[in-house]
Amino acid sequence: MHEAFIALRMPYRLTVALICLAASGAIQAEAPAGDTGKEINGVCAACHGEFGQGGKRGEYPRIAGQRAAYLKDQLKSFRARKRINLPMYPYTQERELSDADIEAVSEYLAAIELPTKWPEFKDSDDALTRLAATEKVMIIPRAEGDLQNGKTLYQKECAACHAKDGRGRGKFPMLIGQYTNYLMKQAEAYIKGERPHDEEGTVGILNRLKAQDIQDILAYLTSIQNPDGQ
Ligand code: HEC
Ligand code: HEC
Repeated sequence: MHEAFIALRMPYRLTVALICLAASGAIQAEAPAGDTGKEINGVCAACHGEFGQGGKRGEYPRIAGQRAAYLKDQLKSFRARKRINLPMYPYTQERELSDADIEAVSEYLAAIELPTKWPEFKDSDDALTRLAATEKVMIIPRAEGDLQNGKTLYQKECAACHAKDGRGRGKFPMLIGQYTNYLMKQAEAYIKGERPHDEEGTVGILNRLKAQDIQDILAYLTSIQNPDGQ
């Protein structure tokens, strides 16, 4: 990746962020190969957060701990404009994210393990510190819905690909720990045919479900995101 080139095309806020990173030594000209993923993530962090935790309550999805094969697929799909994502488009163009960059940043993000327990605060921690620490936690707020209906449908219709525990498998994405708003928006995009769900026509399943059924499935997913049942 060519830093100068990116800086030229980036909005002001991002450019400043990158310059700060460069000044702090986080981006070095001869970073060892293993640091490439981390270095690229410096650009992604402006929207997805420093730890890939996502933000703005799901406007920016969580990408930490997601399956590497799925991340690679999506980045290639954004680059080829098969999956439309206007905010990200400039960052996934060929000259900026090569196949090797996609490989590196996907492996880096997939390996991030967000904490699954709520942090314990000291009285002296201010609001900003508390917010920053809670946003990093893998657990997202419980969504409302009929958990029993959600469980039945999920285990029957979705688990074959997204796994019984919602962690995904192979290139099938992990769904637990992802913002409910974001997942709902994606389900709607699949139903409208704006995003291909999978080649075998699984989108048929989503089309057959009522909106309330999808809500129930998403509620169920927020109830199984932590083995401790939090
Ligand atoms: C300007 C903001 C912005 C930047 C910078 C950005 N993204 Fe995104 N990204 C988004 C938005 C918004 C979405 C959600 C698109 C949607 O709703 O379909 C997204 C979606 C994604 C997804 C799909 C997640 C999923 O679960 O399907 C991946 C993967 C991703 N981004 C990776 C990256 C990587 C890696 C970088 C850095 C190279 C990056 N993004 C930089 C805004 C950004
Ligand atoms: C045959 C396998 C299969 C089944 C069954 C399946 N999915 Fe998927 N799902 C996929 C694949 C593949 C993707 C990624 C598609 C892409 O490239 O956009 C995906 C993506 C998703 C996403 C978007 C995730 C993200 O981070 O953007 C949601 C939400 C989703 N599936 C929900 C469901 C639900 C709910 C069910 C059950 C009703 C279901 N899926 C059943 C294969 C499957």
